[in-house]
Amino acid sequence: MQGAALSALRLPFGFAAGGEYHRRRHCRSSGGFGVRMALREDGPSLAIVGVTGAVGQEFLGVISDRDFPYRSIRMLASKRSAGRRLTFEGNEYVIEELKEESFDGVDVALFSAGGSISKAFGPAAVARGCVVVDNSSAFRMDPEVPLVIPEVNPEAMAHIKVGSGKGGLIANPNCSTIICLMAATPLHRQAKVKRMVVSTYQAASGAGAAAMEELELQTREVLDGRPPTCNIFKQQYAFNLFSHNAPVQPNGYNEEEMKLVKETRKIWNDEEVKVTATCIRVPVMRAHAESVNLQFEKPLDEDTAREILRGAPGVVVIDDRASNHFPTPLEVSNKDDVAVGRVRQDISQEGNHGLDIFVCGDQIRKGAALNAIQIAERLL
Ligand SMILES: NC(=O)c1ccc[n+]([C@@H]2O[C@H](COP(=O)([O-])OP(=O)(O)OC[C@H]3O[C@@H](n4cnc5c(N)ncnc54)[C@H](OP(=O)(O)O)[C@@H]3O)[C@@H](O)[C@H]2O)c1
Repeated sequence: MQGAALSALRLPFGFAAGGEYHRRRHCRSSGGFGVRMALREDGPSLAIVGVTGAVGQEFLGVISDRDFPYRSIRMLASKRSAGRRLTFEGNEYVIEELKEESFDGVDVALFSAGGSISKAFGPAAVARGCVVVDNSSAFRMDPEVPLVIPEVNPEAMAHIKVGSGKGGLIANPNCSTIICLMAATPLHRQAKVKRMVVSTYQAASGAGAAAMEELELQTREVLDGRPPTCNIFKQQYAFNLFSHNAPVQPNGYNEEEMKLVKETRKIWNDEEVKVTATCIRVPVMRAHAESVNLQFEKPLDEDTAREILRGAPGVVVIDDRASNHFPTPLEVSNKDDVAVGRVRQDISQEGNHGLDIFVCGDQIRKGAALNAIQIAERLL
C-alpha cells in the first residue's frame, strides 16, 4: 500500500522531525490546524494519560471531531515523552510526566496507558475529585465500576457526574466486546441471546502504535526478502495470522477471549448468557472484524434482524448479497459506526432461533477513544 492510502490507516498525530507533534488528519475546513475549536471556559478541565499512544492520539482526534468542550487539557505520558511539544487545535502543550499531582484541578481524566498505570494512578485521580474514564482492563470487572457502552447500558453510569466533588471511575470495555455488542445488543433486546459464539480477526492497532509500526516494517522486510523484525510479537505477523497474543489461561482460553465472555455478562447484566470466543490477530493495520453466531430464546428472522440493525444507533448495515459486498476493516477504518453484514439465518438451528452476522469496527475509535469520549459527554 502506498502513500495516502497507508497514512489514512495510521494514527492522527505523529512526531515531526523536531520532536513536535503535528496533525495528520482531522483538519477541519472551517478552522483546521491552528484554530481553537472546543476550548471553552465552561468546559471541564481534562487530562489525557497516555497521550502519545495509539488510543491517546485518537482521543485528540475524537475531541476535535466532536467539538468536545474543554477548559484545559493536561497531556500526560511517561518520563520518556516528558518535555516534548504537541500542538493541538492551535495551542501548544508540553507533554508532562504522569504523577499523582497531575490530577490536581482536573475534572475528567481519560486513561490509556495500560492496566498497571491505571491501577497506580486511577485511585489517586478519583481521590482528587476527578472522574476517570479508563481504557485498560484494570477495573472492568470491579463490581463497583460501571462498564459502559453508551448505546447499550448508559444507565450503569447515571450516578456519576462531573463537578460532584466525589470523583468516580468508569471503565471502557475491551474493543472486541464493544464492537460485538454494538451489533448483538439490538438483536438481544428483541429476541434475548442465549448463546453467542464469536471469532475475531483483530488488527495490529489493537496492540498499540508500536505494533502498527512493526506490521508496516515487517511487510517491507518480507517483500524485500529480509527476515522480519519481531519485537512486539514473537512471530512473523506480515503475511501470517496467529492466535491472539494475550496470555493463555489454565482453561485454554486466552485473556482476550475471556474478556468477551465476562464483559458481555456484566454489560448485559445477564450472568446466564453463554459466550465462547476465539480471538485471532490478522495482518490488518486498523479495525477489527468479528464473526458472531447468535442463538436466541425467541424466534428472529433475518429480515427483521436487518431492520433492527438499520435502526440501531452507531450501526450501519452493509449487506449486499448481489454484489458480494459486506463490511471490511478498510471500509470502517477511521469511522465511528460499526458495520454489520452477512446477516443470515443459522441453518444449523431450528425455527429461526439462530443468526450469523459479520461485524467490523475501528477499535481505536469506537473500540476505545470514541466510546470513552461518548462516556465523557454523558458526564457533563
Ligand atoms: N489500541 C487499542 O485499540 C486499544 C483498545 C482498547 C483499549 N486499549 C487500551 O488502552 C491502553 C493503551 O493502548 P495503546 O494501544 O494506546 O498503547 P500504546 O500505543 O502502546 O501507548 C501506550 C501509552 O502509554 C504511555 N505510558 C507507558 N508507560 C507509562 C508510564 N509509566 N507513565 C505514563 N504513561 C505511560 C505511553 O507513553 P510513552 O510514549 O511516553 O511511552 C503511551 O502514551 C492499554 O491499556 C490498552 O489495553 C487499547
